[in-house]
Amino acid sequence: MIAVTGATGNVGSVLVRTLAEAGEKVVAISRGEKPVDLPPGVEHRRADIGDLEQLSAAVAGAEALFLLITGPQLVSGPEPERVLHAVAAAGVRRVVFVSSQGAVTRPDSGGYARTIAFDRALAASDLEWTSVRPGAFAANTYAWIEPVRTQRTVFAPFGDVGLPVVDPADIAAVAAAALTQDGHNGQAYTVTGPEAVTPRAQAEALAAALGEPLNFVELTRDQARVNMLRFMPESVADHTLEILGTPTAAEQQVSGDVQRVLGRPATSYADWAQRNIPAYR
Ligand SMILES: NC(=O)c1ccc[n+]([C@@H]2O[C@H](COP(=O)([O-])OP(=O)(O)OC[C@H]3O[C@@H](n4cnc5c(N)ncnc54)[C@H](OP(=O)(O)O)[C@@H]3O)[C@@H](O)[C@H]2O)c1
Repeated sequence: MIAVTGATGNVGSVLVRTLAEAGEKVVAISRGEKPVDLPPGVEHRRADIGDLEQLSAAVAGAEALFLLITGPQLVSGPEPERVLHAVAAAGVRRVVFVSSQGAVTRPDSGGYARTIAFDRALAASDLEWTSVRPGAFAANTYAWIEPVRTQRTVFAPFGDVGLPVVDPADIAAVAAAALTQDGHNGQAYTVTGPEAVTPRAQAEALAAALGEPLNFVELTRDQARVNMLRFMPESVADHTLEILGTPTAAEQQVSGDVQRVLGRPATSYADWAQRNIPAYR
């Protein structure tokens, strides 16, 4: 059985579906109510991953765990060693952890300290482990849904700075491979999209998928920061803005790891936009 945390989020919801469709026995973990669109046969268990008793109970019976920390858990919570000890004691043997490309490119940024600590604790543990390190998500542009719907306008900072944004479904596919196949133990995969794409070009891709023009209004860094603080811790917002505004060469580079692991190219932002356009109508 495979336990999936973050099971109703961008990556986890796709992963749950992918694993269930492949015939795996899956337990989907989140704090909220059982999601209405959970695939048939998937069990839902409620747990806060910051509470080790709840986490242990939720992963009981699973040999493999997809571990994703998000929101406040990115900066606070029980020590990674204790989390890993708890899940190992509950029977987990293999962990696929969602780290971040920024944890490697910006190791001194305080916002990544806990993510780096998880990577280190996994490497030092007796568990089989794989670290999946995504760049910026295509799904971050879900933040544009409301202004696109109501004003046909995209508000974003750094309009002409390109990053190879990654489709969360590609992250889920890489994670599914690492959870279900041998040969991924001790590997760290940098997961990006197939090409760098600027926010302005992302808005154009959405407009093309919509079949209607969209205005693009460039926000200042401070305006964008105010928006981001509504849903992410301060240190995470600050390093995210650094990556969006002044990416390093490594952060702008396209990784070959999706092709290596999946044997197919990474998905473009334009394809992501086509698939997700109903949300913007
Ligand atoms: N966005 C980016 O550009 C980017 C780039 C690199 C790396 N990453 C990494 O990707 C991860 C975010 O992935 P995502 O977008 O798929 O996540 P997400 O959509 O924010 O995940 C939300 C999921 O996590 C659950 N959850 C939140 N807090 C929880 C808690 N305390 N206990 C149990 N479940 C909890 C939520 O359900 P409930 O609320 O019901 O609990 C929901 O299922 C982070 O680790 C981030 O560092 C993101």
